[in-house]
Amino acid sequence: MKVSKKIAGVEYAIRDIVSEATKLEQQGKKIQYLNIGDPVKYGFQPPDNVKEALIKAIQNGENYYAPSEGLPELREAIAQKEHNKGLSVSADDILVTNGISEGLDMVMSSIVEERDEVLLPGPYYPPYASYVRLRGGVPVEFEVDMNNSTPDIDDIRSKITSKTIAICLISPNNPTGVVFNEKALKDLVDVANENNLYIICDEIYDQIVFDEKFVGIGKVAGNSPVILLNGFSKVNLMTGWRLGYIAFNNSPELEPLRENLPKLARVRISTNLPVQHAALESLQGPQDYISKFVSELKIRRDLAIKRLNSMPGLSCSNPRGAFYAFPKIEQSKFDTDKDFVINLLNSKGVLTVHGSGFGTQYGSGHFRLVFLPDIKTLDSALDKIEEFVSQ
Ligand SMILES: Cc1ncc(COP(=O)(O)O)c(C=O)c1O
Repeated sequence: MKVSKKIAGVEYAIRDIVSEATKLEQQGKKIQYLNIGDPVKYGFQPPDNVKEALIKAIQNGENYYAPSEGLPELREAIAQKEHNKGLSVSADDILVTNGISEGLDMVMSSIVEERDEVLLPGPYYPPYASYVRLRGGVPVEFEVDMNNSTPDIDDIRSKITSKTIAICLISPNNPTGVVFNEKALKDLVDVANENNLYIICDEIYDQIVFDEKFVGIGKVAGNSPVILLNGFSKVNLMTGWRLGYIAFNNSPELEPLRENLPKLARVRISTNLPVQHAALESLQGPQDYISKFVSELKIRRDLAIKRLNSMPGLSCSNPRGAFYAFPKIEQSKFDTDKDFVINLLNSKGVLTVHGSGFGTQYGSGHFRLVFLPDIKTLDSALDKIEEFVSQ
């Protein structure tokens, strides 16, 4: 039977690669999973007050469909959070979604038509390209220097055509840990405005930074057409509960989108109501669990990067945020980064993700691993990677 041609362009390397590991597990081999960016899988948990808020909501009978745009109190609290980061938003500008994933789908569905081009930071989180392709659009990667977290503005300019409609920013970035500073964000907003582009900015790792203070797009956005994507999966440790949001900056150019996009929210009825109550608690309750989580991650980051850089044939820039390392395979007997990853898996039982899964132009020749496991587990996985590259 027929399937749409567009589905062929959909890939999600982070999970697609798991089938290789499953085959080995079925043969009785033990696998160390360093592929998925899910802190909750590695022992971190939402704090008790947040879990209790979820249970309480269910017990209180909050088990019905929520308003399509989201629970009013939650929209208010989200608007406050984003306003504090500098964005010009109020509760009416917030749309609660089933994770950023759904928000991104809604945004791309609302703006992309056949052959429209969307600029993505190279390398990028894979769904950005998939959702663009699903709507008939063309993802175009622009260069970002991983070592000093700087976007190449000239490269962006050279890639803008009459078909370009939007630029996507992800800061901190998955897979590189690049965090844009205020100047970089300002340069990006300027080039977008000069060319009449939507600015889609993903700040899901906004509080997971290690070296310098995080600066949000709101700080430099003014009244530019910024569509912010954020959620509760990473900072708030609620991956499995699937909650995120879209925030529309106060910009006259966003009016048509603001009128139309919420129809998609109504078509899918609503997000999970008890989880929205828990998310409200996660924003309003004690916040110290976040700094504990980030300090713990910093120790793991420092260990992972130090060790990777001491291994023959690998070099790794220092991720300034998020929880991924993205080493470059300087020399290898394997033809592609995917061969490297499959061979590492087969010979040492360590599952990572091939860099080309994050965009072939800038991701190829790398692999991604998460530094989420506890120190002992992480160290033992790094031992195995070291044995592998030393062979
Ligand atoms: C940059 C980025 N955006 C969005 C997501 C997914 O977000 P959500 O769980 O809210 O759908 C991820 C998950 O890895 C991510 O790295």
